[in-house]
Amino acid sequence: MYRRSGRWNRSGLALSLICFLWIPIRAEGLLRPVNLRCEYKDHPLGIHTPAPRLSWVLEGKGRGLRQSHYQIQVASSQEQLQEEICDFWDTGKVPSSEQNQIAYAGKSLSSMDRCFWRVRVWDQSENPSPWSKQAFWSMGLLSPKDWKANWIGLPSESKETYQPCVYLRKEPSLPNEYERATLHVTAAGLYAFTINGKRVGKDFFTPGWTEYEKRIYYQTYDVTDLLKPGVKNVLGAVLGDGWYGLHHGGRGRLALLAQLHLEKKDGTSHLIVTDDTWRATREGPIRMSDIYQGETYDARKEMPGWNKPGFNDSNWRNAQVDPFGSNATWKDVTDIVRKAVKGKALHIQADNAHFGDPIYGKVKQLRVIYEENGREKEAHVQEGQTLDLTSGEGQLSIVKAEYGADMGSPKVTEAVRQSHLGNPVRKIEEIVPVKITEPQPGAYVLDMGQNFSGWVRIRAEGEEGQEITLRFAERCNPDGTVYTTNLRKAACTDRYIMKGEGIEVWEPLFTFHGFQYVEIKGLTQKPDKHTVTGVVLHSDAPLVGGFECSNPMLNQLFQNIVWGQRSNYLEVPTDCPQRDERMGWSGDAQVFIGTGAYNMDIAAFFTSWLTTYADSQNPEGGYANVSPKGGGVSPGWGDAGVICPWTLYRMYGDKRILENHYEGMAKWIRYLEERSENDLRPAQGFGDWVSVNAPMPKDVIATAYFAYSTHLMSQIAEVLGRSSDAAHYRARFEKIRSAFTEAYVKETGHIKGNTQTTYLLALGFDLLPEDLRTPAKKRLLERLEARDCHLSVGFLGVNLLLPVLTEIGEVDLAYKLIQNETYPSWGYPIRHGATTVWERWDGWTEAKGFQTPGMNSFNHYAFGACGQWMFETMAGISPEKPGFEKVRIRPLLGDEMKHVKATYDSIRGSIEAHWRRKGDALQLEVCLPPNVEGTVWVPCQDPSQVREGGKHAVDADCVRFLDMNEGAALFEVGSGTYRFSVR
Ligand code: BGC
Repeated sequence: MYRRSGRWNRSGLALSLICFLWIPIRAEGLLRPVNLRCEYKDHPLGIHTPAPRLSWVLEGKGRGLRQSHYQIQVASSQEQLQEEICDFWDTGKVPSSEQNQIAYAGKSLSSMDRCFWRVRVWDQSENPSPWSKQAFWSMGLLSPKDWKANWIGLPSESKETYQPCVYLRKEPSLPNEYERATLHVTAAGLYAFTINGKRVGKDFFTPGWTEYEKRIYYQTYDVTDLLKPGVKNVLGAVLGDGWYGLHHGGRGRLALLAQLHLEKKDGTSHLIVTDDTWRATREGPIRMSDIYQGETYDARKEMPGWNKPGFNDSNWRNAQVDPFGSNATWKDVTDIVRKAVKGKALHIQADNAHFGDPIYGKVKQLRVIYEENGREKEAHVQEGQTLDLTSGEGQLSIVKAEYGADMGSPKVTEAVRQSHLGNPVRKIEEIVPVKITEPQPGAYVLDMGQNFSGWVRIRAEGEEGQEITLRFAERCNPDGTVYTTNLRKAACTDRYIMKGEGIEVWEPLFTFHGFQYVEIKGLTQKPDKHTVTGVVLHSDAPLVGGFECSNPMLNQLFQNIVWGQRSNYLEVPTDCPQRDERMGWSGDAQVFIGTGAYNMDIAAFFTSWLTTYADSQNPEGGYANVSPKGGGVSPGWGDAGVICPWTLYRMYGDKRILENHYEGMAKWIRYLEERSENDLRPAQGFGDWVSVNAPMPKDVIATAYFAYSTHLMSQIAEVLGRSSDAAHYRARFEKIRSAFTEAYVKETGHIKGNTQTTYLLALGFDLLPEDLRTPAKKRLLERLEARDCHLSVGFLGVNLLLPVLTEIGEVDLAYKLIQNETYPSWGYPIRHGATTVWERWDGWTEAKGFQTPGMNSFNHYAFGACGQWMFETMAGISPEKPGFEKVRIRPLLGDEMKHVKATYDSIRGSIEAHWRRKGDALQLEVCLPPNVEGTVWVPCQDPSQVREGGKHAVDADCVRFLDMNEGAALFEVGSGTYRFSVR
């Protein structure tokens, strides 16, 4: 028998208050605040928000540790902070258990303010912690007026699609004395900045990828140590096309915007800005660089010392301010046109043959101003058409003629400038090849052992002019050559032309590839494992999850999911890193975000992308399928605009993200409302993308997602205290729900479409009345049986399959599905050597080999959306309160699983759950960080069977029995480590 704790009111505040008083005090470990962060970042430079949010994690040994108060101090210098001269903010002792999302509310901050801060806390017995170590943030350039620099570059004169990179340099003398040097820098295109030959920062693909016409990020670096006072220094930069060239029409029209602030003791600044005194050339070694096509580097064209003092740049030109300018786009063709006039008439074809090509890849216009009856008139025709003009009287007089086009992209100059909100892309690790083969003479194939995003660094010796070609692929053909047809139009080829001076080492700068295999041609010697080194690059969002269990296939699956995420969280959440796509597909992002948040700390990464996503929202409120450079609106894709912010709130307790996007989300719901009829949405979109022969009616998907987003919106409004909105959305949700049942659901529980995903959406989004849930569950189980217990879900069912089965009591079936290794399953690709998650279940099958290459990526994270279930159900870790203020540890054991262990570094510290079966006995170890409490669900028949640390659990320290529920004893625990066992 067990004691029921009926006397406790288990809901809401009452319980937490009681627990707070009840949890015994353990004085052995005082609290220590560590890992101080600002806006989710360590010591960030260039913060833009006026009220940055602060957070810390608590360390402390023992159980039941809580924070009862905190004090934050912020000062403008380290010394002042040390002496408690808090000229910015001193909160005093604040009674609060908050340790994140605390918005700065001190003196209002100005551009470039430097903020040193620290925190101390008090535990539940009011023992103070020591002060934390000092942390830091600085403010960015908050006003457009702070920018004094000019956009500079070299106008493109070439008609080539892919053009050489622009090199820029400036050799300024610096004042003898200054305290600190800070660089603010951005580019139209990608930039790599150097000072005295040394690279500034460790970031790649800067300034990042946004809707460049609306917003462009910049970076801030403290470069004091790179400069030498009182002498000539060299600022250098290389510009490449990047996403701006590829997607935003800016190819070849690159520009740099940079300013260096040398702050003096007296508070004044000496500024060095980009202007037309900078020197520029396109004659450097990077002959072309493109994200899809690769990079070509001609080492013979290296300019030794170009970014160091003393280089002779006499054959460089002065940089041009606003190099995007109109000169290049409109060509004066007056003379040519005048010559074509025959008396009263002009008859001329507008084409490049007549006028040359002032802008490659654009449809141009011929614009002619002529005189008639003493008045000027204008006529124009498009490229390819003929202009016919006749004057009423006398000779036709041409005043002016131009051939060209208005360019769209340079609006980057008008975009909001903001420091990057996310994590920079960085080199994260290096890997060595595991196998080298030579399937064709002289064409070596190196297996890197892992599919990933990044590039390779090569090391080789050869003759001057010898060309080394590298091609990248995810898989190999049966004959061992690289399989590249699935890359579609992306050539993914790097070329290195040797200078012939001993060992040469090279890696690209402005391209990346998604690959496991590298083909290398043009070597003089056979490669070994030092010839090629894999360099893994992605957004540097901290890895925070760990998972391990007794089934090795699932351990590999976890690794594959993480690698899929690492390869695709590169600046924005992309679909894939290899073919001619690599875009921010919103459907993929929303399906996977729940898993993504357990693997990496994605708070900053998604804060950034959601800002861009909001910029991509169309004026009617439609959230885009793709962002940046978005377009199209589809159910299950556009809903990312609501689902992603909600997930950030759930995982990090981030209300600001909800507030910031509330208006946009409300617009989205209005957009859906206005485009629905009787609360049903029309059939449109991509359907249950790449399902296994299980096409689904698109109206069912559209209406289901309409209901889901509206339901989430009611909860969001509730969290933000907007109760009348919440009521509105709830009522709307109920209406959609009824309409859904009415239109699509039969009494037998059959739902239109009758696929697994149909039932998963209906059950997972709570769209059915109670009496139809059981029949619908049966239908779902039939759908699984019909496939011999195999899945058929596409993108929109994959994240729901295991949670819904669990929810309806079919945990064993969920365990079976995730462990299946026969096609189609998560295990099938792994059996066939997958090191990342594939785009499609049938990407490669024994029966058919490679799927159609048009849509067959081997590194697409969406189907890895089962990772959330691995954490939340197999290991049992989930947030009981947003931001893990309270944790639910509720592992559900699978029949054949012997142990599962997961760790998750939450925003409140590290959480661990580890269960293990020994014969009939079960052990469950749980670790919670200070200031976090949890409810632990221990599977058993009776709480008296449960022991903790050698005692009956009901008597253990900081453990309180709550109730029996669904075959588990529920215990409430405070922070600390607990070892439960059941016999
Ligand atoms: C992408 C997907 C995306 C889809 C939309 C594809 O080309 O790779 O991941 O969601 O289009 O259906």
